[in-house]
Amino acid sequence: MQETRETWQSNIGFLMAAIGSAIGLGNIWRFSYMAHEHGGGAFLVPYLTALLVAGIPIMLLEYGIGHREKASSPLALARIHRRFEGLGWWMPVVAMFGIMLYYSVIIGWCANYLVYSFTLAWGDNPQDFFFNHFLQLSESAAAWGGIRPSILLATALVWLACWLICFRDIRHGIEKAAKLFMPLLLILTAIMVVWTFTLEGAREGIFNHYLNPDWSKINFLSADPEARVAAGRVWAAAFGQIFFTLSLGFGIMITYASYLPAKANLARNAVITATANCAYSIFAGLAVFGIVGFMAHSQGVGFAEAIKGGPQLAFVVYPQAISLLPDFNALFGVLFFLVLVIAGLTSGVSLIEAFSCALTDKFDWPRKRVVSVLCLLGLLGSLIFTTRAGLYLLDITDHFITSYGLVLGGLLQCLIVGWFIGPEKLRRHISRLGSRVPTAWNLFIRYLTPLALGILLLMALYGDLTANYSGYATRHLLLYGLGWLLCCLAVAIVLSRKPWRAAKLKRRHRPGEDELLV
Ligand code: TRP
Repeated sequence: MQETRETWQSNIGFLMAAIGSAIGLGNIWRFSYMAHEHGGGAFLVPYLTALLVAGIPIMLLEYGIGHREKASSPLALARIHRRFEGLGWWMPVVAMFGIMLYYSVIIGWCANYLVYSFTLAWGDNPQDFFFNHFLQLSESAAAWGGIRPSILLATALVWLACWLICFRDIRHGIEKAAKLFMPLLLILTAIMVVWTFTLEGAREGIFNHYLNPDWSKINFLSADPEARVAAGRVWAAAFGQIFFTLSLGFGIMITYASYLPAKANLARNAVITATANCAYSIFAGLAVFGIVGFMAHSQGVGFAEAIKGGPQLAFVVYPQAISLLPDFNALFGVLFFLVLVIAGLTSGVSLIEAFSCALTDKFDWPRKRVVSVLCLLGLLGSLIFTTRAGLYLLDITDHFITSYGLVLGGLLQCLIVGWFIGPEKLRRHISRLGSRVPTAWNLFIRYLTPLALGILLLMALYGDLTANYSGYATRHLLLYGLGWLLCCLAVAIVLSRKPWRAAKLKRRHRPGEDELLV
């Protein structure tokens, strides 16, 4: 296929935006504690399976829907059939009010750590520093214990940055920043990975705990019922992580693909985005397991006892690594956290973009006002996660929103394409634009992927009903987990109530490409 320069340029822009959305805190912060919690090597097998069974097929599906309907997720799904619009709202609502609210706070943590890096303020016990000095963590999710001013300040700055970028529409700037900072992130991570290999005990952590799958931990057909439930949880967490890290089920990829020119190689883009993102996570994991191995070695304890698992892991392990570097520690730390802040912002901005596009598509409100109101609401909603109980609250919300909210969004999209539109139509649409999608994709979207996601949802549910997630009190799980999901559902229903102007629901054909649209 002869591609003109112009198309190629916009394709790169799209790819950068899509990768910028995918690569974020999920790759460093979330991946590391998920992998650590679920036994390292035992996590990688379900993770890669999830990438193949759900990640790549659904990414293709979202690109396909967005490109075919040329609309944000609610409008795209409403164009397929009016009754699917609710799902089109559910996805960005869950992402905005379920994820972005705490995600912005974690970007704020990174901003704080950027400042701490100048003096390596965490000293020689980063774990103690994080819990007791930085978060001043309360005893339980019930004790909010007031707002932490430094976290609030940083979170407010994060929302301000999101607002500035979206309001002034300097997405070009973000694209340029992504082009500069993504490679920088990779280089900094590579330095850390190489360096950790020289530390004592690191190889043990990497080769015995990370690159060495423990099949018994992932055998969900095990004869022992307890092992079965535990394995189910590992699988559910791996699938959840794939959705989170690839920004699937957020409505983001649909919106981004809708901005593409008529001819764009969707299949190739999907494979590149997914592979680049996951390869990066797995690579960064080497540093995490290396450092934990080193910590175990230097404390003379087993790998599992070396560090307390949970959402704080990256904020203990990476500072530790930064302190251990032979030279330029402060410079390195500042750069590392700066890049993390930027990676987080490119992800956050992609969502505000998708959500405001959805609102303007439907209500014709002025874009700038929508962005301002969204960012203000976002900041207000984030406040709860800046309290001294923030870590508990975001852990609970994140668990429920990701394993149920995002996965459900993916499952329903498969059912709509698989059984309503018919995957063959979408497959042909995508294939005609560039690289061919194998026919097996139809089988995935129709049977395999929804079946796998359905079973996973059940396994996650079964796990959560058998034992409270991370030992939190039942009422907190109901309030911040289930309650949060139900609120998102209510918002999605309200937003989808209002009727559309009929003209909008008609697909706008681009001149000269009618034959592409089925
Ligand atoms: N994929 C991102 C990551 O791995 C997560 C993400 C994408 C996100 N878009 C977002 C989080 C919007 C919050 C809001 O970090």
